[in-house]
Amino acid sequence: MLERLVYRSKATHKLGSLHLFNLLSLCRVKNKRMDITGHLLYTEEIFVQCIEGPPASIESLWQSLLRDERHHDLELLSRGPASQRRFNDWSMAFSSYSYFNKYNISGFFPVDPDGMNDAAKRCSAA
Ligand SMILES: Cc1cc2nc3c(=O)[nH]c(=O)nc-3n(C[C@H](O)[C@H](O)[C@H](O)COP(=O)(O)O)c2cc1C
Repeated sequence: MLERLVYRSKATHKLGSLHLFNLLSLCRVKNKRMDITGHLLYTEEIFVQCIEGPPASIESLWQSLLRDERHHDLELLSRGPASQRRFNDWSMAFSSYSYFNKYNISGFFPVDPDGMNDAAKRCSAA
């Protein structure tokens, strides 16, 4: 059984690169353990995140996300069973402005000036 959940939220404080990298590397360790894959889009202090994995892992991460004070106004965009993963290769792919290119983060996909790329489209697709 595979479940996918997509939500949007607002960053409580503007996240600097260091905080973002910390968050991303912690996410990746924990997601691997929980068999979760997904994608995080961060533009204009708005997050859109897609998480996919076993329903119990998704529920547990969702409860953690709801408690996390680094973001607020969480808006559930979709949640339900999925037949296959959209981000099979990434415990948490990350898209943001090309500014982050210089850090050579694995699984980073720069967005165009409109804040979009293929991964971001796949992330927020219904
Ligand atoms: C925008 C955003 C995305 C996050 N994504 C994940 C994630 O994919 N995996 C994860 O383990 N934690 C993620 N976190 C962190 C969790 O909210 C939480 O702090 C972490 O899982 C530890 O949870 P716990 O304190 O309930 O054990 C994210 C936090 C934010 C603000």
